[in-house]
Amino acid sequence: MDQTSRMDLVREAFHYRSRFAGSTMVFKIDFPVTRDPGFPPLMKDLALLAQTGFKVVIVPGAKEWIDSTLAEHGIKSGYVEPETGKNGPAAPKTKLRITAAEAMPFVEMAAFHVATRFMTALSASRVDSVIGSFVRARGLGVLNGTDMENTGRVEKILSAPIGRVLDLGMIPILPCIGWGPSGKSYNVSSGEIALAAAAALGAVKFFIVAAGPDSAGIPGLSRAYGPPDGVEGRGGLSVSLRLTPQEAEKALEPGRGDGKALDDLALALAASKAGVERVHIVDGREEGVVLGELFSNMGSGTMIYTDEYEAVRPVKTRDIPDILRIMEPLMRQGVLVRRTPEDILNKKEDFFVFGVDGRAHACGALHRYGGDGEIAAVAVDSAYADMGLGRRIVGFLVNKAKKDGLKKVFVLTTQTQDWFETLGFVEGSKESLPVERQKTYNSERNSKVYVLEL
Ligand SMILES: CC(C)(COP(=O)(O)OP(=O)(O)OC[C@H]1O[C@@H](n2cnc3c(N)ncnc32)[C@H](O)[C@@H]1OP(=O)(O)O)[C@@H](O)C(=O)NCCC(=O)NCCS
Repeated sequence: MDQTSRMDLVREAFHYRSRFAGSTMVFKIDFPVTRDPGFPPLMKDLALLAQTGFKVVIVPGAKEWIDSTLAEHGIKSGYVEPETGKNGPAAPKTKLRITAAEAMPFVEMAAFHVATRFMTALSASRVDSVIGSFVRARGLGVLNGTDMENTGRVEKILSAPIGRVLDLGMIPILPCIGWGPSGKSYNVSSGEIALAAAAALGAVKFFIVAAGPDSAGIPGLSRAYGPPDGVEGRGGLSVSLRLTPQEAEKALEPGRGDGKALDDLALALAASKAGVERVHIVDGREEGVVLGELFSNMGSGTMIYTDEYEAVRPVKTRDIPDILRIMEPLMRQGVLVRRTPEDILNKKEDFFVFGVDGRAHACGALHRYGGDGEIAAVAVDSAYADMGLGRRIVGFLVNKAKKDGLKKVFVLTTQTQDWFETLGFVEGSKESLPVERQKTYNSERNSKVYVLEL
């Protein structure tokens, strides 16, 4: 990574911090992640988030550890499919453990053992955590004729005490246990707890931290089941996949098979339906995966988003430093005409940017001359080159020109003619320029004219 990209990453981290600091992020972390060499660095990163003002809540998954603890003590435990609608309206249909009364002490022991692994790992970064009875639960009763005994469902997340722990700068840890009003404890799925916590705490982010390529979300999903039909997603800016809830829903249509990846996707979808704007499914074994997903716009997981994430949009005054940052090296090389902040402000309505999470990574302008339009100031942040941003900006400007009833668009370029040719532009003459534009044509630059008839 060169110095500019490094600085850009630092800027992006600051930008995210100012945008999201003080907001809550819920992490559901699968048990196998705790056994991976990637676990200590992951905990370090979560500790760092907590130390820099983010409110981090952890819900450890303990399924595999509970299974092995029960097996070790010779206690049988089965699973059932939950009844549709009985497991909370938005909750996914992940299989549920039948927790016999004799199994419950071992389930508690295993759940708290896993929770303390998190506490210990966090303490290495000097971040304190609280394992607490933050989940009020009720028994599931009899499902399809099966007595679920000590398996429960979330009745309520106790957001007020969680909030107090967070305000102290500590990390609340919610083991997969809930407590009923009559003093009985229940085994509750960690997915359900995490989902309910994200909804109750108004989390802006929900991370499903899985272990293994197939549980790392849709990329794993595609490997296992082929690309989800009709699901485009947006690779866009990043190597990871961005899905709308509708697209996630399509990937979950019946007949697509089952498995952990789909369970994770169903949980992610449920969280997004519960109002979490961004839900990320990541492979927790990858170093820096959470920070990469949060700060670099270059994450490697799958994200379901309900807010505007990346789009070409009109420029805002606060984008001007970004635009100048992108254009400066190109202006210095003479690839672009020099523009001052005032030049951009004076023509503000002509400028558009490709923004991701409030930051501009590419820009372009459409200036009008009667029935003709000039596409100008097209530039892409060097850290985001060759990701199709230039094409998206020009495509947007061409569509805008068409919608505005323009007959043709032209561009004046000294070094990028080949690229515009690939977009359908053909070489034109200076004389074909609108008269007004001919007057301001800089013959020293001797730019070539490329034209696209609309
Ligand atoms: C030209 C520019 C806008 C392209 O943006 P981008 O987002 O990196 O490009 P895209 O991802 O849409 O397209 C990438 C393709 O264009 C090619 N390309 C990029 N710059 C090129 C250039 N100057 N000439 C020819 N081809 C070019 C890439 O090699 C790549 O080819 P591939 O698809 O075969 O791999 C960007 O390189 C830039 O900012 N250039 C400097 C400013 C400029 O010249 N602006 C135009 C004058 S108004």
